Amino acid sequence: MGKPIDDAALDTLFREARTYAKWQPRPVTDDTLRNLYELLKWAPTSANASPARFAFLRTKEAKERLRPALAPLNVDKTMAAPVTVIVAYDLKFYEQLPKLFPQNPGMVKLFQGNPEMVEVTAKRNSSLQGAYLIMAARSLGLDCGPMSGFDQTKVDDEFFSAGKPCFGCDQEFFPEGHVRTNFLCNLGYGDPSALHPRLARLAFNEACSLL
Ligand SMILES: Cc1cc2nc3c(=O)[nH]c(=O)nc-3n(C[C@H](O)[C@H](O)[C@H](O)COP(=O)(O)O)c2cc1C
Repeated sequence: MGKPIDDAALDTLFREARTYAKWQPRPVTDDTLRNLYELLKWAPTSANASPARFAFLRTKEAKERLRPALAPLNVDKTMAAPVTVIVAYDLKFYEQLPKLFPQNPGMVKLFQGNPEMVEVTAKRNSSLQGAYLIMAARSLGLDCGPMSGFDQTKVDDEFFSAGKPCFGCDQEFFPEGHVRTNFLCNLGYGDPSALHPRLARLAFNEACSLL
């Protein structure tokens, strides 16, 4: 704590990390996916609510279920990726608060009576957890390809609708019907030969103010 990580780690996480669309033929093991979750779960969410749910699609069968929902430009890269994770959020995340935030028993009731607050909290924190997933993946040597080019209703219907079991997921943590997709992220070991030049970023003065 209080000590910066070294330059090589900063390169891995930020300066040299890229968004990949082509992948090396190197598999990602289920153990690596477990390690990924075991890292990202520690990053903060409001009231420790942890609303994100992650469906890791790593079989051809699971990928084919996703195919019809993908924007045309995202099909090939997704089908070729070793893993595609659906970063989703559970609109009943507050049911876990007695375990995750026991110091404030009133929180569950607060959320139960306020669907707007539930949605804002779920979206905000699952987006954060999706970003944590990207950084955790990079820290484990994986590369990422996040995507918002897909039909959310189709993904939700296929993977999270009432009556449809979530393929490859633990049902205990994916109760049916109240999980919604936030974004998709391909995972694997990227092929750097297919990268385009890095795009510009806003300068400090364009994006930040010191008040
Ligand atoms: C939430 C999110 C959604 C994205 N959606 C798509 C997408 O649908 N298709 C795509 O090809 N790239 C998508 N991208 C990739 C971005 O265009 C890319 O990360 C950005 O240009 C930076 O590229 P770099 O990491 O190589 O510097 C998305 C990225 C994020 C974070």
